[in-house]
Amino acid sequence: ASVGKDGYRHYMEKELHEHPVVIGQTLQRLIDPATRRVVMPELPFDLAAIPRAVVTACGSAFYAGMIGRYWIEQYARLPVDIDVASEMRYRNPPLAQGGLGLLISQSGETADTLAALRGMRAVGQHIVSVLNVEQSTMARESDAVLGTVAGPEISVASTKAFTAQLSVLACLTIALARARGLMDGAMEEAMVTALLDLPSKATEVFERHDEIRRMATIVAEARDVLYLGRGAMFPVALEGALKLKEITYIHAEAYAAGEMKHGPISLIDSSVPVVATVPSGPLFDKTLSNLQEARARGGRLLVFTDMEGAPRLREIAECVVAIPTVDEFVAPILQTIPVQILAYEVALLKGTDVDQPRNLAKSVTVE
Ligand code: G6P
Repeated sequence: ASVGKDGYRHYMEKELHEHPVVIGQTLQRLIDPATRRVVMPELPFDLAAIPRAVVTACGSAFYAGMIGRYWIEQYARLPVDIDVASEMRYRNPPLAQGGLGLLISQSGETADTLAALRGMRAVGQHIVSVLNVEQSTMARESDAVLGTVAGPEISVASTKAFTAQLSVLACLTIALARARGLMDGAMEEAMVTALLDLPSKATEVFERHDEIRRMATIVAEARDVLYLGRGAMFPVALEGALKLKEITYIHAEAYAAGEMKHGPISLIDSSVPVVATVPSGPLFDKTLSNLQEARARGGRLLVFTDMEGAPRLREIAECVVAIPTVDEFVAPILQTIPVQILAYEVALLKGTDVDQPRNLAKSVTVE
């Protein structure tokens, strides 16, 4: 069936506005709201017996996987290896039998990811795929599929599938942590509650649209943009830079905030805006001092944060977009939304073909 734009100018705009609904629908499949517990589908293996996990994907799905690694290591204390699918295959890492091979793909057809799936299966990994298209080649070749209930995604640049992937990975993290004896009922309830609050918080992000537009006017003038984030916000920065490159053709690079001083700081002057994602939390102060270093070199700071982090950032940044403060666990899901909106707003100013950027395909079925 063909999908309309429902009055939006582009599919990307429509799909951005679907974030709240998509997060809610995806969580609904994996959470029992009455007990506030994660309910995983039947798996043909024991989560508690997994010695380690290997995550692989391409594009935005890979960045979702990086956040997944951060969570799984942090909360479930399970070692996770991760690489883009096109590298993972040829790296051929030594994998113990019975590990978890975790694949992430919107389409379920990406050739590199599919090849990695087959390679992992061949060396005895349990294959779990996080997929949006549940009738896909990867779905048929997996031991279990965790569905992202994002609906059809038409825009070549992925948006809503990303937050849906994160919603699934968050639930998987909770299930793994519980299976490994690291999550008591109270902790699970707190984490699930934070997840279930996301759809309404995500709706509030759109109230910041004017500030994001103001930020977009600065980014649209730039030739190069540096994106920064620390911890789970580093993949959010990578996702923001990818989105900007894909649909505006502006060169963008994302760096782990602490690594900036080891290279890209030499690029910073008033012509290279620095877009940073810095919500409140344990990494706030360290990231703030990285931003002060950029500021001292004349960098224009455009910052995404939350209500709690905003006051201190307003002292140094030219633009501050403050979205609701949420539990540190779910912050990367919420912080992704304004970063994607920024790329969309810049594309509007540039007049590019937002839904069909040059040289890109929605699903890449060649290696
Ligand atoms: C293409 C798309 C990206 C997407 C990537 C992975 O490059 O342009 O938006 O992230 O493929 O696609 P998948 O369907 O595997 O998630």
